[in-house]
Amino acid sequence: SIPVPSVQEMVRKDHHTVPKRYIQEYENRPLIDSLTPISYEIPVIDFSLLAKRDKDEQKKLDSACKEWGFFQIINHGVGEELIERMKDREAACFDLSLEVKKKYAMAENDLQGYGQAFVVSEEQKLDWADPFFLMAYPPQYRNFKNWPLIVPSFRETVEEYSREICRVSEEILVNLSLLMNMKEDSLKELHKVMRLGMRMNYYPLCPKPELVLGISPHSDSSSITILLQDDDITGLQIHHQEQWVPVKPLPGAFVVNVGDSLQIWSNGVYKSVEHRAVTNARKERMSIAMFVMADDDVEIGPLNTMLCDNGQALYKRIKYVDYIRRKSICHEFKKMQCRAMQ
Ligand code: SIN
Ligand code: FE2
Repeated sequence: SIPVPSVQEMVRKDHHTVPKRYIQEYENRPLIDSLTPISYEIPVIDFSLLAKRDKDEQKKLDSACKEWGFFQIINHGVGEELIERMKDREAACFDLSLEVKKKYAMAENDLQGYGQAFVVSEEQKLDWADPFFLMAYPPQYRNFKNWPLIVPSFRETVEEYSREICRVSEEILVNLSLLMNMKEDSLKELHKVMRLGMRMNYYPLCPKPELVLGISPHSDSSSITILLQDDDITGLQIHHQEQWVPVKPLPGAFVVNVGDSLQIWSNGVYKSVEHRAVTNARKERMSIAMFVMADDDVEIGPLNTMLCDNGQALYKRIKYVDYIRRKSICHEFKKMQCRAMQ
């Protein structure tokens, strides 16, 4: 694979130019300011009601996962102070000099560390972002070689934050298990080891946001993803009814989405929806995605309670680690793997 420059560093040196490798093909370019106002927004779910197993709220969760694959949660109980501290520590990581960040660079054939993965050719279009991926949970899966421990209290903050995201994820999985006609712990146990992969995303401002993408369209491989985004900048867009719908941040809320694993487990009932991020010319944007993932050797396949009326399973069983590998090699299938696997 080919090393990818840091976009942050590129913009620091010259904030007027967009190199050719970042300019998307015409049909993939985002319409930044000419977007027709879209009246709909993704569903909002009250987590505190889910925690009480409220039937109406569970119904909302069910239809959000079927129709949108995305929702925002409010009243999740993660402290505002912790969220601000986590965002602040993320900013401190990206603020490190390139020289220092390079010490945590992703090694060839690794997934953890600083920088973009899976760039296979000089022609491939690049995303206008610098990611930092770390395995955040459980503790024994942390590989500190790639952690920017030079950032004061980064480690403690991630530890605290990942415990909270674990709690929130488990509660969502409990409610989904019940909706899928299983015992409340079933989905959690299907992960064998419920892992949290953490991706911090830094999107520098871009002089020509209508030409580039912060993250090109993809679906997540996770079971669910819990995203923390800035309160004041819209960047995330999801593919819904043939349109790109911007996800307007709801202050203090998390964006939750269904990943491929849950789509497969649910036999296609819950949708792992394609999404992308756009940039803007005014201000950089940061986000933190926490991917809830099964252990590498877990075989993921449609669950018995979710088979079609004729008993049909729509997906083949596949080991999670093999799924990730396939998805990463086949760039074109990034967003279609779920469909292609049918
Ligand atoms: C992603 O993880 O898909 C990016 C989400 C975002 O930065 O809004
Ligand atoms: Fe994503």
